[in-house]
Amino acid sequence: MSVTKSFYGKMPDGKEVEMYSISNGKITLQLITLGATLQALYTPDKFGRLNDITVGFDSLYGHLNFTDYQGKTVGRYANRIAGGKMIIDGEEINLVKNEKDKTCLHSGGEFSSAIWQAEAVGENAVKFTHTSEDGTNGFKGNLTANVTYTLTDDDRVVIEYYAVCDKATAINFTNHTYFNLCGAASSNVLGHILQINSDEITPTDSDSIPTGEKRSVSGTAFDFREPHTVGERINDSDEQLVQCLGYDHNFCLNHHEGKADAVVYEPVSGRKLELYTDLPGVQLYTGNFLDGTVIGKGGMPLVKHAGLCLETQYYPDSPNHPDFPQCTFAAGEEYKSVTEFRISVVE
Ligand code: BGC
Repeated sequence: MSVTKSFYGKMPDGKEVEMYSISNGKITLQLITLGATLQALYTPDKFGRLNDITVGFDSLYGHLNFTDYQGKTVGRYANRIAGGKMIIDGEEINLVKNEKDKTCLHSGGEFSSAIWQAEAVGENAVKFTHTSEDGTNGFKGNLTANVTYTLTDDDRVVIEYYAVCDKATAINFTNHTYFNLCGAASSNVLGHILQINSDEITPTDSDSIPTGEKRSVSGTAFDFREPHTVGERINDSDEQLVQCLGYDHNFCLNHHEGKADAVVYEPVSGRKLELYTDLPGVQLYTGNFLDGTVIGKGGMPLVKHAGLCLETQYYPDSPNHPDFPQCTFAAGEEYKSVTEFRISVVE
């Protein structure tokens, strides 16, 4: 196992962005300091051919001009906060409303657009650190976050999050990788077979804000308790799918001991990805707003459904829904979470 560091690019202000590569001899994981981003993940298919299975950009130009959070670490509060407002310890917090001037999405890029400090840890991990200052995009408190990516000998990518703030704040980090198990330059993920161990979703209004309801997946296009292709029901007339142009929803995870929270399998390549997390939810986002106008890795347009994201998280807008699992942390209280992707090939 080895970690190597190289130059990735230069920001408009001259700051350098570095890339770290970790290889276990079979799989290579590449990470960049802009956004503590999972830049690439090369894995073999059933014939031993290596492909990068993450959809995104080859260079900084794409990351800076066209990002839909490809590969990024998102925080301090991933997903949406209604009206950019939440109450913490009785105080109204007003956040940047970076989506339609209405909602706060992905904290306005608070952590995903930052250049993080990075250091190799041993021979198979990289730890990223960034402190966001009190007031950034409206959030209260200086918040220091660490994200550590580890590639194990047995082909697991483990992402560990740690954060602590000097004021009470909501903390909800995720990773926003778009996977395409056929390879980054392939068309779309509609033929991928997906399973999610979830009985309920949190349906949303037309601004993608949870209504507060927890709705059973039984008999709907959201029932992935048994495997289904992503494309099988994506165009159903279900109002939830119609308003989001596909899947863009939080699934409440059942968390059965020893069972993956989600599994993605792609039959042509034989690649399989199993997701394990300690967080209560996962946002399944099927790249619905990609429309082919932006060019991604290998010169391929990023078309609708080019990749799928499994963003592990607290439920969206949780500070405004006291019935949802809560993620407000007191000053000095530590936030810790682990998400793991297990990579394998089915012959
Ligand atoms: C959101 C999508 C959004 C995408 C890129 C996802 O987490 O749920 O609605 O388009 O991020 O910003």
